[in-house]
Amino acid sequence: MDQSAKFWNRIAVRYSRQPIADEAAYQKKLEVTRGHFRPDMQVLEIGCGTGSTAIAHAPYVKHIHAIDISSKMIEIAQGKTREGRIENVTFERTAIDGFSVPDHCFDAVLALSILHLLDDRDDGIAKVHKMLKPGGIFVTSTACLGDTMKFFKVVAPIGRFLGVIPLVRVFTTKELKDSLTNAGFQIDHEWRPKRNEAVFIVARKAA
Ligand SMILES: C[S@@+](CC[C@H](N)C(=O)[O-])C[C@H]1O[C@@H](n2cnc3c(N)ncnc32)[C@H](O)[C@@H]1O
Repeated sequence: MDQSAKFWNRIAVRYSRQPIADEAAYQKKLEVTRGHFRPDMQVLEIGCGTGSTAIAHAPYVKHIHAIDISSKMIEIAQGKTREGRIENVTFERTAIDGFSVPDHCFDAVLALSILHLLDDRDDGIAKVHKMLKPGGIFVTSTACLGDTMKFFKVVAPIGRFLGVIPLVRVFTTKELKDSLTNAGFQIDHEWRPKRNEAVFIVARKAA
């Protein structure tokens, strides 16, 4: 099994019990995202974790396909949809790299706290661009550690070797925005709630 999947499987139960670090910012991100939703939309969430965000958005769209590399995260997420009898969210255990769908099949893609965990964010972003319909939106919330914690570039490989953190890539907000625009996205909305928090971006594929 992939080292990342092993890490996330190991911490899935603990992760599911953790309170949201900044509830007000989380609620605002949900609200801004919903401002882009329509009831007929097909949505993909990448790195959905235990499924809370997909479930929160489910009443506002037609269907959400939510994927995660960790089978334990997916088990917890599926338990929540069974319990809540939610029928328009499907969870699938797969890494983004192995996820294959026809081009232009989603109206919106969500990637929350995940782009900095991908080995190659440009690859992931290009894949999302292909999956989106023209005019589709890409909602991301990303730890841009290169802005304020450059030292993490040195610490991250050691932490990963010791098994205490997963793969983490260190880049700046500018580098992330460059990746998005180079892939063909236009940035519609950018918000960083606090200095050390993730950068929330809503980007759009040209219509
Ligand atoms: C920090 S958690 C974020 C979970 C959720 N999006 C949230 O905001 O709470 C990162 C999630 O991404 C998943 N993940 C890591 N690498 C992945 C990959 N290559 N493909 C799909 N999921 C991945 C992990 O299993 C984990 O559930």
